[in-house]
Amino acid sequence: MADNIAERISRILFSAEQIGTRVHEVGEQIRFDYANGAAKDPKRRPPLLVCVLHGALVFMADLAREIPTEVEYDFISVSSYGNGTSPGAVRLVKDLDRPIEGRDVLIVEDIVDTGYTIDYLRRGLAARRPASIRICSLIDKVPRRETDVQVDYVGFPLEENAFIVGYGMDYQELYRNLPFIGVLKPEYIK
Ligand code: PRP
Repeated sequence: MADNIAERISRILFSAEQIGTRVHEVGEQIRFDYANGAAKDPKRRPPLLVCVLHGALVFMADLAREIPTEVEYDFISVSSYGNGTSPGAVRLVKDLDRPIEGRDVLIVEDIVDTGYTIDYLRRGLAARRPASIRICSLIDKVPRRETDVQVDYVGFPLEENAFIVGYGMDYQELYRNLPFIGVLKPEYIK
């Protein structure tokens, strides 16, 4: 029988209930803001939620359902080179399916760490002349920031430098399906 991956977690940082409550609040804040001045699209099209694959998938699915008004969504995927020779280098793996010129774009991330990924995305999407760009991240690891990037909507700031998994976030592609966010026991880190 396969083991229960929840038992590989040493400490839960954010429970499923805490996450649900906070995602509801953030969704309502986004609805309010876009109804009260954040929306700049002259054609008044719904905001376009841009999910950054793969980590933001779970958050995006819940967040979208907590914004009780019209939204559209699209998906983008990037990868960091991670070879140590060019820190912060990011490349596009999968582009958006549609143009964003004139649209109100809300980038949805699971976590902003150094900020290199979100900075790359914000610059790249801004070059396509959307009407506005905002950033929403479930987790904001503020002390780790190496770039000057503003996160408009934060689910939970995280002051400690814990390596976290669950609710979309992985270790070697596993644990994204945990319904909470926690820290892996050391014996499961290779
Ligand atoms: C994670 C996360 C962000 C990025 C944040 O993605 O989803 O996109 O790292 O790190 P940064 O602020 O230091 O750039 P990852 O590369 O692990 O891919 P994944 O989303 O597929 O898990």
